Amino acid sequence: MTTLLEFKQVSKQYGTDTRALSDVNFAVREGEFVSIIGPSGAGKSTLLRCINRMIDASSGEIIFDGANVMGLKKMELKKFRTRIGMIFQHYNLVNRLTVIENVLHGRLGYKSTLEGVLGLYSKEEKDQACAILQILGLEEHMYKRCDQLSGGQKQRVGIARALIQEPKMLLCDEPIASLDPNASKVIMEHLRSISSTMGITVVINLHQVDVALKYSDRIIGVNKGSIVYDGPPANIRREQLAIIYGSELDEHVEEMDNSYAV
Ligand SMILES: Nc1ncnc2c1ncn2[C@@H]1O[C@H](COP(=O)(O)OP(=O)(O)OP(=O)(O)O)[C@@H](O)[C@H]1O
Ligand SMILES: [Mg+2]
Repeated sequence: MTTLLEFKQVSKQYGTDTRALSDVNFAVREGEFVSIIGPSGAGKSTLLRCINRMIDASSGEIIFDGANVMGLKKMELKKFRTRIGMIFQHYNLVNRLTVIENVLHGRLGYKSTLEGVLGLYSKEEKDQACAILQILGLEEHMYKRCDQLSGGQKQRVGIARALIQEPKMLLCDEPIASLDPNASKVIMEHLRSISSTMGITVVINLHQVDVALKYSDRIIGVNKGSIVYDGPPANIRREQLAIIYGSELDEHVEEMDNSYAV
């Protein structure tokens, strides 16, 4: 399979004394489902946000789908970002708008500012929004305002908005951190199925180790801005988790299946 994303010696420095990423190297293949885990402050969000330039890395090289991400100019960046869908912990929806209006916002990257302001969407785009909402089990809620939805439903709207971009990759920053276990399971099952049926690559930051191990093809463990584990979930034992989490180990492994607590 072909490489979709590559980090080469990527570092990120905030101000003068916070080195959030240090010489990070990894490559993600098309269609892979990769979870990034690590303690709070390890650099997980920074890593994810460097990929679509929400944050600019300080040095190194990031290659996405053949393009040198760090060298993109403003207009190129807008086009480039249509290929990457972003899912947030707090959904980032416009609450006073309806579900379908929020989903259609995923098309803004393809439009001129004027078309965007006027909300000019084609029939094809509207049909596509309906079809995606159906896949996510939201067809009955299409015309509701987003502030009337549960957290799990809001996150499904967030996923629908990302999918209508027709992205090659989804970046998910703690997508289930605000959800209860049932809603979390629904979201993870959708993400997994999007990855396997649509071939969309998923890179996801997670706090819950058990969830990361259950759904991922691969785990990247980050500690203090460096990758300290990169491999399949099956090879993760308590020893690897101790390296990834350090002193935060007990907070993260208490709910794990005993089979991992070797
Ligand atoms: N905008 C910023 N300005 C300065 N320092 C920052 C900024 N964003 C993050 N940092 C610092 O960079 C480091 C990595 O932060 P980051 O948010 O990437 O960690 P994280 O692994 O996502 O943590 P969490 O699990 O709490 O979300 C931390 O030390 C953090 O304080
Ligand atoms: Mg974070």
